Amino acid sequence: MTDHRFSIAPMMEWTDRHCRFFHRLLTRRARLYTEMITTGAVLRGDRARLLGFDPAEHPVAVQLGGSDPRALAESARICADLGYDEINLNVGCPSDRVREGRFGACLMAEPALVGECVAAMKAAVPIPVTVKCRIGIDDQDPEESLDTLTRTVVAAGVDALIVHARKAWLDGLSPKENRDIPPLDYERVYRLKRAWPALPVAINGGIASVEQATAHLAQLDGVMMGRAAYQEPWRLLAVDPLVYGSAAPFASPKAAIEAFFPYVERELARGTRLHAMTRHILGLFHAVPGARAFRRHIATHAVKPGAGIAVLRDALDHVVDARAELAHIAA
Ligand SMILES: Cc1cc2nc3c(=O)[nH]c(=O)nc-3n(C[C@H](O)[C@H](O)[C@H](O)COP(=O)(O)O)c2cc1C
Repeated sequence: MTDHRFSIAPMMEWTDRHCRFFHRLLTRRARLYTEMITTGAVLRGDRARLLGFDPAEHPVAVQLGGSDPRALAESARICADLGYDEINLNVGCPSDRVREGRFGACLMAEPALVGECVAAMKAAVPIPVTVKCRIGIDDQDPEESLDTLTRTVVAAGVDALIVHARKAWLDGLSPKENRDIPPLDYERVYRLKRAWPALPVAINGGIASVEQATAHLAQLDGVMMGRAAYQEPWRLLAVDPLVYGSAAPFASPKAAIEAFFPYVERELARGTRLHAMTRHILGLFHAVPGARAFRRHIATHAVKPGAGIAVLRDALDHVVDARAELAHIAA
């Protein structure tokens, strides 16, 4: 069975391959998700750019956006051939653009179609197929909407369900508001798990720390963290010790970022701009002397044309390594 104990959410514009590589330096075990990629982009876009990833990212799941079973099956096959570990279907995004394409959260109102999509993908690939959904949309009764969706996707062979524990309100709220305003209902997700004990269920929404994540694990199979993981990546160093009982990959955020250097140099040599990588690391230091200066240095210099690895080195010079500081205090 796929291990969903801790994952980092799919986030458009955020969880690109540079971000995922960086997160992998902070946790060896968390499951990483791509940004949502539409079937149109998979089938007709620049696949190397849209779907390329580094082998270090495993386990890594691709999230697809679409609602045509044949296009999803073909896209899933392409992604499985590229080496992704899981195919995830987006049944939670509320944006107008996505809604016009008849996918994302509006599919909560079309459970039979979601079932067909899952069945088609399952038939096409040997890897797990999962769904990320909401508890309901608009005036749906979440008891009913989530149960109905679950019944159809379980019948179609879904391998896990990841539930963002709030409704999406499709009229009147922006996607950003739809991540904050509809109230969270964790109990609804716990009830779902109790009703479907054999189905792996992960919870998402408003989980602010790894400690909170472990509390949910008493009731559920997994936790998916989004904004807290991205904005405060230092938290991820606690994932392997607290969730998996294994050592953190590095003893401090500073040590982790030093291990990012070879990747950054390799990517710079391939023509990737420094900013494309460093924009993901701004929140790395917390409660460490020099954290603000680090952020400011990167924000000012990494965007300049031709910015190189020296910007990152100089930014890091502002930061006192927590370990060094502790050793100093101990001495
Ligand atoms: C910038 C941003 C982009 C997002 N893009 C996606 C996406 O592509 N697919 C998706 O299923 N959810 C997307 N989400 C929603 C997150 O995956 C997650 O469900 C939501 O942020 C709630 O979790 P959190 O409170 O831990 O952040 C996005 C969220 C943010 C902040």
